[in-house]
Amino acid sequence: MINYREENTYIKEALKNLNLPERVYIFDTTLRDGEQTPGVSLTPEEKVEIAINLDKLGVDVIEAGFPVSSAGEKEAIKKICSLNLDAEICGLARAVKKDIDVAIDCGVDRIHTFIATSPLHRKYKLKKSKEEIIDIAVEAIDYIKEHGLKVEFSAEDATRTELDYLIEVYKKAEEAKADIINVPDTVGVMIPRAMFYLIDKLKKEINIPISIHCHNDFGLAVANSLAAIEAGAEQVHCTINGLGERGGNAALEEVVMSLFALYNIKTNIKTELLYNISQLVAKYTEIKPQPNKAVVGENAFAHESGIHAHGVLAHALTYEPIPPELVGQKRKIILGKHTGTHAIEAKLKELGITNLTKEQFEEIVKRIKKLGDKGKRVTDRDIEAIVEDVVGRVAKKDRVVDLEQIAVMTGNKVIPTASVSLKVDDEVVKESSIGVGPVDAAVKAIQKALGEKIKIKEYHIDAITGGTDALAEVVVTLEGYGEEVTSKSAREDIVRASVEAVIDGINKILSKKSKKKIIEK
Ligand code: KIV
Ligand code: ZN
Repeated sequence: MINYREENTYIKEALKNLNLPERVYIFDTTLRDGEQTPGVSLTPEEKVEIAINLDKLGVDVIEAGFPVSSAGEKEAIKKICSLNLDAEICGLARAVKKDIDVAIDCGVDRIHTFIATSPLHRKYKLKKSKEEIIDIAVEAIDYIKEHGLKVEFSAEDATRTELDYLIEVYKKAEEAKADIINVPDTVGVMIPRAMFYLIDKLKKEINIPISIHCHNDFGLAVANSLAAIEAGAEQVHCTINGLGERGGNAALEEVVMSLFALYNIKTNIKTELLYNISQLVAKYTEIKPQPNKAVVGENAFAHESGIHAHGVLAHALTYEPIPPELVGQKRKIILGKHTGTHAIEAKLKELGITNLTKEQFEEIVKRIKKLGDKGKRVTDRDIEAIVEDVVGRVAKKDRVVDLEQIAVMTGNKVIPTASVSLKVDDEVVKESSIGVGPVDAAVKAIQKALGEKIKIKEYHIDAITGGTDALAEVVVTLEGYGEEVTSKSAREDIVRASVEAVIDGINKILSKKSKKKIIEK
């Protein structure tokens, strides 16, 4: 059981005098603030599927959307309400009757109503006095309560509102029987100490639960949310993958895993479902989390450097704070230029590749590092191609033909020409040929050098990695001397890959042929 609050002296000391809650409520706003991410628009069906998965994940509240914003939005929220999920379904409404009526019509359990309170918003957006704003807020809360629904009240831009006025607004909301007040850091300007200070002040004045809603404009949304919880906030707003307006909202997966592993505070979240829901949301929003995104990023549990991979293979906790399975991820040993032999050995084992000779293993390591040196991430498919190439080759001692040298010339004003120098039965044979392209010329030169007894029946090339320096895999089928063989080669250079595949195929045919003399003059 991971518990840094107990095991880490610094966390233990830092938290020892705080009155931390045992459990924090997760209010997910992926389908509302998350959908306000520029460029994101979910269909009703996608929203429903995400809601079902948020419910399975165990969030306490799903803010399903802003019902008044469009007919499609209303339809989606209605559908989500009709599913009878375990999570409470909430709809956002400005503190105006029209918005509230549409939300009520959707059948939500809770209405999250808001009005801005900061001097900036009062002056430039609302053009209303402090008193008018309080009256509007109270009227909206009264109206929702009259309809028997739960009210969550937000003072928009709370963190840029004068403290005494903010306290007054929230006290009026409490008197009007709001069930919970939410504190939005609307443009993400808080720092953790300031957030602690603010929530601590509010806790001393307000008796209903306090919720926190942080934006990530300075990358502090999660840290500020945690600071609010340290000061006593009972509920936290967050979104899957940290989606949301501008820099986004506090990422649910980061908040939840911090609470779980660092604070030892419970939530209702089934953490092993986090990666899956992150993928689902990424698919529908078409926004993939950055690879180095905490918890759900593709690199969150990936190790490339020789030192780290070796450490993790010896004992996972050396370079992983939590096991990947805890969040539905898998450990990945990435091969590249930093890779050490331990990692390559482990990777080959994972891919089921065993029984390599020392010579083959060394060649594979050399080829993987060479690919990594080009700035490439070496994929499993690359490794398989390299292994097939190295292992599939006819052993050196059994080879009749070997490539000594190859030179090709091509261009817009020259006929593609290739010259090859082959070692055949310890004799050096040189030949050249023209062709329709450099590969064709090279293969024809080999065939000429070997007396054209072996023919190419099929030739196939595939790029494995992307980019102009991709690893290319060539597969050829050759026939000759009554035999038919298939051979492969993988190289970044397609001419070399083609030539090697052909020469390897020729060696296969010749090793099957009892008489190993190839050039019958
Ligand atoms: O960031 C914000 O202020 C909001 C409000 C609607 C609460 O999302
Ligand atoms: Zn927001």
